[in-house]
Amino acid sequence: MLRAPLLAAARSTRMRSLVEAVPATRAVVRRFVAGAQTPDAVRVARELAAGGRRVTLDHLGEDTTDRGQAETTVKAYATLLRALDERGLAEGADVSVKLSAVGQNLPADGERVALENARVICTEAAAVGATVTLDMEDHTTTDSTLGILRELRADFPWAGAVLQAYLRRTETDCAELSGPGSRVRLCKGAYAEPASVAFQEKSEVDKSYVRCLRVLMSGSGYPMVASHDPRMVAIAEHLVGQLGRSPADHEFQMLYGIRPDEQRRIAADGHTMRVYVPYGDEWYGYFMRRLAERPANLAFFLRALATRS
Ligand code: FDA
Repeated sequence: MLRAPLLAAARSTRMRSLVEAVPATRAVVRRFVAGAQTPDAVRVARELAAGGRRVTLDHLGEDTTDRGQAETTVKAYATLLRALDERGLAEGADVSVKLSAVGQNLPADGERVALENARVICTEAAAVGATVTLDMEDHTTTDSTLGILRELRADFPWAGAVLQAYLRRTETDCAELSGPGSRVRLCKGAYAEPASVAFQEKSEVDKSYVRCLRVLMSGSGYPMVASHDPRMVAIAEHLVGQLGRSPADHEFQMLYGIRPDEQRRIAADGHTMRVYVPYGDEWYGYFMRRLAERPANLAFFLRALATRS
């Protein structure tokens, strides 16, 4: 019931100032975000690697309409990838990139700028043995993001993308992206979307997730199962066994701070387990989407406000 207002708040600058001004907010944010700086991201990557988990690192930020800001984001990824390399953590690591953070929404030539910036990040990643996954934002960006993915894959065949099971189109997109080498992260979807393009009921989204999972797991690509939902994880594990997929041709992914025991269990069972680790100052939109997707996260936040402020 609170999902829609919280997702609307995620896009409100007024709400942003209010939420950011509350001292207790930062304590809660730390549960989901590694920290503000590159060393924070590297520290968390090292801790997770020590426990057998891989990372995909997200430099927080989205929806920029400022070209300079987009370039700053590209530099932040380059700095991060080099820092990981210096500490022997880059090989097998991944970075998650929101195209709206690297220029996709610039008024005149946003797509071209985003493609060029994504190319720079892919080049930096390739140099240190890491990969890049394009996050997926709201449905108005899906065609543009998949178009940019196609261009990138011509030079960087390992470049991956996210598909959102709540979108009605996604089963078809999964079929198109299930070919050799195609890295697809399947998630449920985190934005407020209209019924014309997206399933609205959780049960419909879950059924779509399972259909999409079957398509990806039956294909010859590299499915990345991104969900904390015990049912989705169990179905994915079953499909891996049924279809004889090896640990080298699929992986599980969860968000930093969510179900860490289950993350360790999946890794201990021999699957690749990758944790999505956001870092940076621009945590507001990411944080609000986490509150929106689970009442318990919101309750945790409200309890922190009540006890600390
Ligand atoms: P859902 O939120 O439906 O939860 C189902 C069940 O999971 C719950 O009933 C509970 O049992 C369990 N659960 C969930 N959270 C829990 C918690 N905190 N503690 C304990 N149990 C919990 N979205 C997007 O639109 N674009 C993107 O690019 C990405 N990228 C992305 C990367 C990765 C690695 C992940 C894991 C997720 C994303 N997402 C995303 C977010 C995604 O779309 C979705 O909003 C969340 O993952 C929540 O959906 P779930 O599948 O986890 O299940």
